[in-house]
Amino acid sequence: MPRKILVTSALPYANGSIHLGHLVEYIQTDIWVRFQKMRGNTCHYVCADDTHGTPIMLRAEKEGITPEQLIARVWQEHYDDFAAFHVAFDNYGSTNSNETKESAQGIYRTLKANGLIEVRSIEQYYDPVKNMFLPDRFIKGECPKCHAKDQYGDNCEVCGAAYAPTDLINPFSAVSGAKPELRNSDHYFFKLSAASCQQFLREWTRSGALQPEAANKMQEWLGAEGENKLTDWDISRDAPYFGFEIPDAPGKYFYVWLDAPVGYMGSFKQLCAKSGIDFDNYWKQGSDAELYHFIGKDILYFHALFWPAMLQHAGFRTPTKLFAHGFLTVNGEKMSKSRGTFITARSYVDHIKNTEYLRYYYAAKLNGTMEDIDLNLEDFVAKVNSDLIGKYINIASRSAGFITKHFAGKLTLRSSQEDRELLNQIHEATAEISASYDARDFSRAIREIMRITDLANQYVDSNKPWVLAKDGTQTTRLHEVCSTSLNVFRLLTLYLKPVLPKLAEQIEDFLNIDPLRWQPSLTVLSEGHEIKPYQHLAARLDPKLIEAMVAANQESLKPMTESHSETRHAEHQQHAITPIAETISIDDFSKIDLRVAHIVNAEHVEGAEKLLKLTLDIGEAQPRTVFAGIKSVYDPEKLKGRMTVMVANLAPRKMKFGLSEGMVLAASGETPGLFILSPDAGAQPGMRIK
Ligand code: 2FM
Ligand code: ZN
Repeated sequence: MPRKILVTSALPYANGSIHLGHLVEYIQTDIWVRFQKMRGNTCHYVCADDTHGTPIMLRAEKEGITPEQLIARVWQEHYDDFAAFHVAFDNYGSTNSNETKESAQGIYRTLKANGLIEVRSIEQYYDPVKNMFLPDRFIKGECPKCHAKDQYGDNCEVCGAAYAPTDLINPFSAVSGAKPELRNSDHYFFKLSAASCQQFLREWTRSGALQPEAANKMQEWLGAEGENKLTDWDISRDAPYFGFEIPDAPGKYFYVWLDAPVGYMGSFKQLCAKSGIDFDNYWKQGSDAELYHFIGKDILYFHALFWPAMLQHAGFRTPTKLFAHGFLTVNGEKMSKSRGTFITARSYVDHIKNTEYLRYYYAAKLNGTMEDIDLNLEDFVAKVNSDLIGKYINIASRSAGFITKHFAGKLTLRSSQEDRELLNQIHEATAEISASYDARDFSRAIREIMRITDLANQYVDSNKPWVLAKDGTQTTRLHEVCSTSLNVFRLLTLYLKPVLPKLAEQIEDFLNIDPLRWQPSLTVLSEGHEIKPYQHLAARLDPKLIEAMVAANQESLKPMTESHSETRHAEHQQHAITPIAETISIDDFSKIDLRVAHIVNAEHVEGAEKLLKLTLDIGEAQPRTVFAGIKSVYDPEKLKGRMTVMVANLAPRKMKFGLSEGMVLAASGETPGLFILSPDAGAQPGMRIK
């Protein structure tokens, strides 16, 4: 019986670009969904932009556009980024939709009718210049613990202390700079402290819907039986606010986190309307469909407490399971703008192009737990080149040409015992691979696929089709070996298809077959099946592309771009590039003799503030001395032994500290930093640069 499954990924906030951290989740979800669909299950995958709240309202204002215009623009960017990474939603909506509004208001009305909404007056900071209440993150001041200046209203980034905005010393509004005033306002609360909520959540969080680590965390938050640690949840915000108005509460809006998960329903409603699916069949209490939310571990609280409690008490079904994942680190550290590892989806596409390489790497790392995963950029290149190109693609590239050249593109069913054994081994791996995909342990699936890919390569290595092809008496065996290899390649492609959907499509075209599906029985291509001539399928990943991507993302090197967390306070700076100098002829250029130089020695110069003394070998009998103004940015010890570029025919210049016999080249711009050049590995001292 095919399963009925509804899957979501967390809704990205419409206030920033999709980056490699976000993509862990969307790629993880997409692989799982593709696997379920290939198996013949009915599986719907929906998502949307999360569009409401103060940050979006203020950002639009700053850009001089309406929030609607801002979220429309970001929606398109997000949509394009996901498409580039082959994340195939069945519907990609927006929380700012009629469907989400109706659902959010409907849920609220039912909660209210069930006595679970309470109005209470609370005291909050108000910006008298902007005429608005200030969320904690928009109030700044001095930390009450360590006295660091310019800290946010909820916690200190210097000492880590958590506090209330009213604890800040000399608070000010991060929006207008004004001194905030305390004012009262009525807020609407969802009564999570009600016995029925606590009881329900205690049961639900133990029901197996959560990963063990998450279930433990929830027990901590809920407290021991009878302890009732949960407090009521403030679900309203005062105007001005970009969001949905609360029914019968003029000037009051739903807090963004109230309507965000309702966006899952809203987006699914749109899918139902376009595909004729019955909404209630998936969402009504007692539904036999499965509902899975893929999320990051940082938003468990909302998904494991607030959301199920809302659903339960508004007459809807609750999620079957929450699949929480960890964070992404790059080269073992938090993504960082100064290291150039805060990489946007767009920047990856611009530099690397092939997005399936990242899908493969993430798949090889994801094991279905909440552990963080690391994108080690060197390992990324090595893994893609060795597994995908060196092992997998290699099987087809070493056999397909012979089929085209010697057998008019036609395969044979004839096979030896060895051929059949190999095919059986490849086929027997299906159960393990399929169970691993289903359990979201993609790393196990990939290990198993690579294990059998190794078997296939050993088979090609030992049967040597290129030798068989030279020997005129071995044509029959050549045909068998190459046909077996391509049948194996077809199965490997099936196994990898959830991860590499685009490549699989290209291969289906080359093998001239229908879209691969997860079928239980072993099939081989029929006698005389004709393949198309082999076309280059994938290129090795060049490490230089990675270097260029990291360099382009290094904050000190590029104009500031805004990030998710920084948009609230960072000023958007744009730097124009220095105008390009006057055009010169090639003859003018060749007057400059640029040489590769080996930095034999580098040292400080007594009494010189800016200079380092460099000893440069450019292949001449005697090394040259050059004084370079790079002391503020380079440690001489680190320069020793490096290669760089120098102007070798510049007239020597007498300086206070000695004669400078040339100049080293360095890049600089309006942003801080000075960067000397390096030739690629292999360049020798004295080589001319032209
Ligand atoms: O953490 C975030 O970026 C939120 N926008 C996720 C929302 S998930 C769901 F609840 F909508
Ligand atoms: Zn502090």
